[in-house]
Amino acid sequence: MKRILRALGFVLLFIVLAIAAFIGYLQLTGIPKYALEKVDFPQVEITPQRVETGAKIASVQCIYCHRGTDGKLSGRALSELPDFGEIHSANITQSKEHGIGKWTDEQIAYLLRTGCKPDGQYLPIYMPKFAHLSDEDLKSVIAFLRSGQACVQPSEIAKVPSKPSLLVKFLCHVAFKKIPYPKAVIPEPDTANAVAYGRYLVNGRYDCYACHSSDFSKLDMEFPEKSVGYMGGGNKMLTQEGKVRYTANITMCTKTGIGNWTEEDLGHALRDHKNKDGKTIREPMLPYNGLTDLEVKSIWQYIQTVPVIVNEVDRKWDQD
Ligand code: HEC
Ligand code: HEC
Repeated sequence: MKRILRALGFVLLFIVLAIAAFIGYLQLTGIPKYALEKVDFPQVEITPQRVETGAKIASVQCIYCHRGTDGKLSGRALSELPDFGEIHSANITQSKEHGIGKWTDEQIAYLLRTGCKPDGQYLPIYMPKFAHLSDEDLKSVIAFLRSGQACVQPSEIAKVPSKPSLLVKFLCHVAFKKIPYPKAVIPEPDTANAVAYGRYLVNGRYDCYACHSSDFSKLDMEFPEKSVGYMGGGNKMLTQEGKVRYTANITMCTKTGIGNWTEEDLGHALRDHKNKDGKTIREPMLPYNGLTDLEVKSIWQYIQTVPVIVNEVDRKWDQD
């Protein structure tokens, strides 16, 4: 008996030591760096059309996180992500000292696609990856960052380094790895095929799926449809003021999703921020007021093809 107890004691001690060693290893190594593959991404030609499209994409994909106190994209504390540590977004204005004025277009493209900075440093979950954006849309975002628009003009506010939590460091070792740079050009979607175009908008251009699946830490950024609870909502988010919001179930479930909605209801929700019951749709869902009719129609058609998930989400309508 004594011997068994002693053996058990050793096993326990070993487990405790192994866990302590793993935590120590995580703290020491932190967020990994990766070797960068060679890519060929020539300097982007800035055209008014690209700047306009880039501004439309950035208005829902970048500005919310990167807008600082001076109104430019100078970075801010992301207090709405407490589980991920003390996170600060970066200054991405044209400042050569504090922003990305010295980055090449290729370096920006590489970071947006894979999550890796020019020195190989990986930016975890709190900086989204744009792996599925078409090359043309990616060029448009870069053209916008290089444009004369007020919010990207140089801001001399220095970047505050983030302090990622142990959870993020852990996830970077087991789940979130660098996304490979696409081997071929990602072509423009076929806008005549509503389902294909809608799928592109939901998974590529606007990333609806990222917020509307069950949990950020269970996303599959390489294969969005494999994300846990894809489009079934329930992802717990915080507003900048710290209010809890759960994302809506936007599958076609008639009881817990938008199965009783029409295409017009969806357009109204996205552009005017009113849902079918007349309730105001709140942050962090942003107004997509620049959406074209074709975009709304295509998102709607694609949603018809997404597997229905039964998930009753507590929307906390009593909290405004
Ligand atoms: C959910 C919030 C969020 C969104 C949305 C977001 N970012 Fe970021 N971004 C961050 C955070 C946080 C960092 C800094 C991470 C760190 O270094 O600790 C960052 C870093 C960056 C950097 C690296 C800058 C540097 O000096 O290290 C660039 C470039 C960038 N973002 C561009 C963009 C662009 C362009 C978009 C839209 C297409 C975008 N981001 C959308 C949160 C966000
Ligand atoms: C940044 C995260 C985020 C992104 C990106 C996002 N949403 Fe939302 N969405 C939310 C949240 C949170 C709510 C719930 C808001 C509330 O309860 O007031 C919501 C609510 C909705 C609703 C209202 C449903 C209802 O029953 O009231 C619809 C429809 C919707 N989103 C569709 C979309 C579509 C389509 C996209 C992409 C074009 C998208 N969302 C992108 C976070 C997001």
